[in-house]
Parts: sequence; structure tokens; C-alpha cells
Amino acid sequence: MNIAAPRGTKDILPDEMSRWHAVEKLFASVCERYGYGEIRIPTFEQTELFTRGVGGSTDIVRKEMYTFEDKAGRSMTLRPEGTAGIARAYIENGMASLPSPVKLYYDMSFFRYEKMQKGRYREFWQLGCEIFGSSSAYADAEVIAILDTFFTELNLIERQLEIGSIGCPKCRPDFITALRNHFETNLDKMCADCNERFEINPLRILDCKEESCQPFIANAPSQLDYLCPGCEEHFDKVKLALDELDISYNVNRSMVRGLDYYTRTVFEYVSTHVGSQGSICGGGRYDELVKILGGRVTPAVGFAMGIERLLLEMDAQEIELPAAKPTDLFVISFPDTAVSALALTQKLIRSNLIVQTDVMERSMKAQMKQADRSGARYMVVFGTEELATKQFSIKRLSDGLEKTVAADDLADYLLKTREE
Ligand code: HAM
Repeated sequence: MNIAAPRGTKDILPDEMSRWHAVEKLFASVCERYGYGEIRIPTFEQTELFTRGVGGSTDIVRKEMYTFEDKAGRSMTLRPEGTAGIARAYIENGMASLPSPVKLYYDMSFFRYEKMQKGRYREFWQLGCEIFGSSSAYADAEVIAILDTFFTELNLIERQLEIGSIGCPKCRPDFITALRNHFETNLDKMCADCNERFEINPLRILDCKEESCQPFIANAPSQLDYLCPGCEEHFDKVKLALDELDISYNVNRSMVRGLDYYTRTVFEYVSTHVGSQGSICGGGRYDELVKILGGRVTPAVGFAMGIERLLLEMDAQEIELPAAKPTDLFVISFPDTAVSALALTQKLIRSNLIVQTDVMERSMKAQMKQADRSGARYMVVFGTEELATKQFSIKRLSDGLEKTVAADDLADYLLKTREE
């Protein structure tokens, strides 16, 4: 029986990894320049964290979580997203007593049992940021500015930012009443899920992807018409800050996010390139979450971006990323010099070079082939004569040019020729 990777998961092989690293390193560098520190949290958490944090009426909690009982009978869930776990870590590690704001970023994989599609996986990776302790619209603007800097430095020129506001617990009840009034008369024509959502949380109807429900969703009331003065002022301030930062956006009157914890600002970067999964990045403010999870009232805002979708988008926009660095040198040896070749390789690697040698005790001909296939810039044959004289004839593989270099000068020579 062949064992395959689970549906919806994939292996990321070394050839592809250099693109991943380029994106991950740039993201870390941008976040660190904005003063954010990296956080890692457990892959699994108590299920209740997500039912309470993400929300019992969301598709994530109702249909998509990988939940299991551990050996002690406790219900555990593979993290479907990062914000709830990071808010839990914020509370549990006493970060509330640190000077505000607390600024965190992450690079982690998440798990959702979703239908597979292009750009949609059951284990996927996100790059994200969360900032705790500021209710100011400038914190919302800052996390969007991080994304804008990241995309600019990545050369992702075509990008579309959608923003909206979904109000706060003060103004949301009026909006929910308006939604109930709107959907009530058409419930018999809508899907079973929406009928259930109508009872539990009518806001979630706006997430529905069923064809039959779309006409009723399309002309549903907009939260933007129900914002209280505080939420309206906050939203205006976010827009003003974005204008000042020269970040263009489209105000989306019907923006919905698939998680219950959002308050006020919500935003997404969308693309037409990554198939029906158009959202590359999503985020927003979540001023109630820390309190819901048992902490002190702590305003917060953040985002997460899917690495796989970002890479698809970069392919579509034909953005080149640095390829993996080539091997500098391949050392070919014989049975009586193989150990010395290993030692030379070790020494050169410690001088910050990329060096390979044979570890299969192959014939010289086979090693030559391997050196060629490795894409190395240079090759040396390490025989007994080289062992005695400590002089190497180093061969450039692109054109066969040979030069004699003393063992002690090899590292310098290889470093110097990197720029050629
Ligand atoms: P989300 O919108 O559920 O938000 O996910 C954010 C991003 O993760 C999406 O825009 C997408 O790029 C990627 N993503 C989500 N599901 C999948 C999937 N099945 N396959 C591939 N990529 C996927 C959150 O997760 C929030 N925690 C974001 C946030 C942080 N809000 C505030 N802080």
C-alpha cells in the first residue's frame, strides 16, 4: 500500500523553498523594522478557545476544525487561525503588563477541513501581525502600512485593498435587526444553512456562497449605514490615515469576514488571479476578543496573509524571486583522499561557502557527473598529489577554465569569484 500525503496538504520541496524563504524573510524584516517581535504558539489548543474566540456560528467552527480527544479525554483542536491563540498567549503570559502597544508577528501553518480548490488547502501557511493595546485608528493604519511596505518591496504592483467597518456591540444590534427584517420574507428561498444562520447569527448569512442565496445577499443592508458616531469617526480616521500614507483602497459596503471576533475596521487584499479564492490577506480590529477569552478589555487589530495564495499571485504577476544560491565548489575525491576531502569541505563551509563532496564512495566518473548536476560553479579533483602539495587545480564548470590555487587561498578565491 502506498501512503500518500493527506488530501489538501502538500510537500514543499527544496526547489520551491527558496521562494518561500524569500517571502518569509522579507516579511520578518518588514515587521521587525516596524518594531514587531515574532511569536510562536502551539499547533493545537483547547477546542473552547476557538468556539469562544472565533465564534460558534462561523463555518470554521461549525464545519472546518480538526478536533480530537487527547488521551486524557480533553477536546483539542488543530489551530484553524492564529488570532485566538495569540490573544490567549497575550493573556496567559501577562503581556498586558508590558508597555502598550504589544506588537507581534508570526509565520505558522493552520488547519481547516475545507473543500479543496486552487489556493485552498487543509494545511496552509499564514504570515500575520497582531497589535494589542491601541484603540486608535492609527494602529489599524499601521498594520495596513506594514502590508503596503511588504507588497511594495516584493514588487507586487497590482494589489487591491478593500476596507469596511462592521461596527461595535453598540451599533451592531440595529444592523442585525435590519438584516433580520431583510432576510425574513425570503427565508423559504434560501439554503438550509442560512435558515440556521438566521436564528444563530444573521451576520453569517452574508458569508454564504450558495447560488440561490446571492440575490438576497446582494441587496442586503450595509453595516456602513448603521455605524454609531464612534465607529463612524474611527472609520473616517482610518481612511484619512491611509490617504496620508498614499495607500489606495476601495470602501466595500458589504465586506464580511468569516470570523466572529471583528469590531470596527475589516479589510482584505483581493486578487482576480488566484481563482475563486480571491482573498490573499484578511484582517481587522477585534476589540472584544481578549475580554471574551478572560483577559482585561484590550483593543487589538491585525491581519493574516496566506503564503500559498501570495505565491500564486506572484506567479500570476510574473514576479521573480531569488533562486537558491548555487554550490560554490564540488570536491571530487578518491578512496585514499575521501576523508581529507570531507575535512576540506568542512573548512570551506565554515568560511561561509556552499560546498559539496561525495559521500557515497562513488567512482571518479560518477562524481564528475554529480558535480555537473549539482550546478556548482567550480570543481576540484582531490588526489594524493593535491594532498601532498596542498595545491589545487580549480576548474570553472561554465567554461572549463582552470587555475592553480593553494589550499589556504581556496576560500578567498571562491568568495571573490562569487560576484563574477
Ligand atoms: P482569514 O481571512 O480566515 O483570517 O485568513 C487569512 C488568509 O489566510 C486568507 O486571506 C488566505 O490568504 C489564507 N487562507 C485562509 N484559509 C485558507 C486555506 N484553506 N487555504 C489557503 N489559504 C487560506 C484569519 O485567519 C484571521 N486570523 C486574520 C486576522 C489576524 N485578523 C486579525 N488578525
